Amino acid sequence: MIFNTTTWSKYVFIALEGAAESVPAGKLELFEEGIKPAGSTFVYGNKYLQRANAAAVDPVSMPLDEAKQSKEMVFQPPAGLALFGAIRDAAPDSWGRRVIENMLRAAPDGLPETEYLAHAGPHRTGALDFRDSPTAPAEPGKLPDAKELSYLLDAAAMIQDGKPVPKKLQLLFSVGATFGGARPKAVLLDNGRQWVAKFPVARDGFNVPVVERATLELARKCGMRVPVTKPVHLPDGRDVMLIERFDRVPLPGGAFGKRHVVSALTMLKMHESDTASANYTDLADLLGERGATGFVAADKVELFKRMVFNILVTNDDDHLRNHAFVWDGANKGWRLSDLYDVVPKPQVGSERFLVLGVGPAMGRLATLDNALSAAGRFGLLKHAAVEIIQQLSAVVREWRTYFEEFGVPKAECDKITSAFRKPQAIGLREVEKAVQKA
Ligand SMILES: Nc1ncnc2c1ncn2[C@@H]1O[C@H](COP(=O)(O)OP(=O)(O)O)[C@@H](O)[C@H]1O
Ligand SMILES: [Mg+2]
Repeated sequence: MIFNTTTWSKYVFIALEGAAESVPAGKLELFEEGIKPAGSTFVYGNKYLQRANAAAVDPVSMPLDEAKQSKEMVFQPPAGLALFGAIRDAAPDSWGRRVIENMLRAAPDGLPETEYLAHAGPHRTGALDFRDSPTAPAEPGKLPDAKELSYLLDAAAMIQDGKPVPKKLQLLFSVGATFGGARPKAVLLDNGRQWVAKFPVARDGFNVPVVERATLELARKCGMRVPVTKPVHLPDGRDVMLIERFDRVPLPGGAFGKRHVVSALTMLKMHESDTASANYTDLADLLGERGATGFVAADKVELFKRMVFNILVTNDDDHLRNHAFVWDGANKGWRLSDLYDVVPKPQVGSERFLVLGVGPAMGRLATLDNALSAAGRFGLLKHAAVEIIQQLSAVVREWRTYFEEFGVPKAECDKITSAFRKPQAIGLREVEKAVQKA
């Protein structure tokens, strides 16, 4: 089939350093052949480049220093990609697409990428949005309240069933429901804060919202950086997990500032299909190159802990959209985002793999000795890495006690127990031997 190329021209707006108001950063042109993106260009505005606090819209493919060196520099996405990573991150990859398709009565993945970008709305992930002119105002959009959760869950169920959501419910629901990830979810307001609400799914093998929340709280017990979470048990028995948005900052008067976020996929200049060729150490190196001043060492250690924790709880959904970086203007660099989307995966068989490569010794194999073999790349001496592994193992070993404390029923713990392997099955002994030898 031969398609005509169409061009989507928009001004990219960005909110800087937690500000509520966005400013125009530059002009994007996105070319499409039918519904397929064929290429993009971006040019920064001169006024934007003169701002002392300007942030790169996309740090890897639109660097500010290059833009400042030659006037009206035209940027293009990394080799092999039709979209800039940071622009791709501003549209949903899965769930939010289903919501937009339901609104526009379109087939799954049946719309051009620009339609998803255009409809992701003012509450989308991160600090970007797209407007027709440099003076166009922000799109309005009142977020729903936690009190409306049961309506939101009803709308989400209709979307999963492929049924059109009635107009009135759509108005309430669609404002905050255009997030990415596969699970149904919506952004809402509660207690003056913005939260991602993650919903249950009929085919879930266990109570995912309750277990995900407990797992994130377990990560907090291990000393990791986790947003505030809240369990919500609806009167009809359905459970929802609320996790506070790390890319929104509550401001006086009920307004919210935005923080600029890019996925690890974007930072590594990768396409979705390449995710299995990436390693945790690549992310550690990225922190070394682009990390915020004063936080590089701490963020590398945090990343090492996340890798070890994923091994301990069998979270093998650790792909490059489940790691993100947040721009820190004051410290002129990128911070590893707070932790999100960590769920134990019960399974038979003891040999397990993560999505991202763990260590030089054994690739993606999910063992603690493999993690230890990578310690140096995270800036850790062997004995410090062993200490971390031991500390996390000791906490996770008590997961049932903690999960009970976090309100997970025993029957739910029984369903996920195979996610937690015995220490000897994951190389804890080898790790301890390594430190005795040293
Ligand atoms: N607490 C949060 N703050 C900001 N953005 C978040 C938060 N949690 C998730 N996200 C964003 O939403 C996307 C989907 O959420 P995620 O928890 O990964 O859902 P799923 O389980 O469906 O993959 C993430 O990739 C991330 O971009
Ligand atoms: Mg996810």
